[in-house]
Amino acid sequence: MRPSPTALERFLIHPQDLSLPLNPTDIFEREAPVRVEVGFGGGEYLVWWAQQNPDRNFFGIEQPADCIFRAARLLEKAGVENVRLIQGDARYLLRELFSPGSLEHVLMQFPMPWPKDKHAKHRVSSPDFADTLADVLQAQAVFELVTDQDWYAFETDRFFAANPAFSKETLQEDPERPFRTRYEAKWLEEGRSIYRLLVQLQEPKNAPRIIPSEEMDTYSLAPNLDHSAVQALKGSRYKEGESVAEIKEVLQAEDGWVLRTVASDSSFSQMFYLRIRRKADGRCLLKVDQVPRPYYTDAVRYSLLAIREALTQASATADRK
Ligand SMILES: C[S@@+](CC[C@H](N)C(=O)[O-])C[C@H]1O[C@@H](n2cnc3c(N)ncnc32)[C@H](O)[C@@H]1O
Repeated sequence: MRPSPTALERFLIHPQDLSLPLNPTDIFEREAPVRVEVGFGGGEYLVWWAQQNPDRNFFGIEQPADCIFRAARLLEKAGVENVRLIQGDARYLLRELFSPGSLEHVLMQFPMPWPKDKHAKHRVSSPDFADTLADVLQAQAVFELVTDQDWYAFETDRFFAANPAFSKETLQEDPERPFRTRYEAKWLEEGRSIYRLLVQLQEPKNAPRIIPSEEMDTYSLAPNLDHSAVQALKGSRYKEGESVAEIKEVLQAEDGWVLRTVASDSSFSQMFYLRIRRKADGRCLLKVDQVPRPYYTDAVRYSLLAIREALTQASATADRK
């Protein structure tokens, strides 16, 4: 069941529409230390955590819309004001959305441990994630991992212990926890042990970001653009360095065309629409549609340039015929 529109409006923020990095003081209309829960599932723990700490501001990051809806309903029901939800891939958004040294605590409970070797880069014990934490956490701030997988807890503990930016690792087995998550209750019922790792940041260090804050350009296309040239873009794929753009679908609109596009920067993938609009004077303009507004990464920028180039070549070929 969807939450009420007012609950979504109140709790779900769209960072794509805000200037980045986020300004929590503006968002919450008060200054307070900031905590983040990554992968909050149904949001039960996030609501409880925020209720226990009314003097803190909280962000929750999750991917599926179902999780966002469930958490927004819970927040509304509980009357909690100090939480905002963000939909998207936290592996990227944690670094992209928050200022260096701005977080007091980052929590992950029962994340997917990615057991296969080839997926090790997705684990919280990857150098990339450690770089993100070393950037967004304040000095002495905490990263907390709760998991039912012993090997994952031990591996992550060893990883952070060997990383000079972090110190004071504490690994607890079956800790007393005043509130259990949905997954935790399930694993405890099955007789599994729970591990809680607490790691403290010693040496903050800035990490590079992939979302520049500049606006996206609008490009003029050749005026002799025809339907077959645009239609031929369907299924096309463009690659430059780490940026990949794919045109999944070409739809005819009243005033031009809409191209359903997927752009990826490494594995940060976004689906959005490129719009080609024919103006009354015959000119065609190409731009990124604003619904849904993507983060303006290099791959999104590249998709515009690649399509402009492909259509310019198609027009030049048509002119020569
Ligand atoms: C096993 S569930 C645990 C949910 C909750 N923490 C609990 O303990 O009940 C893992 C959650 O992490 C979320 N998740 C996995 N990868 C994510 C990512 N890259 N960004 C945001 N959320 C992610 C999933 O959508 C899922 O809801």
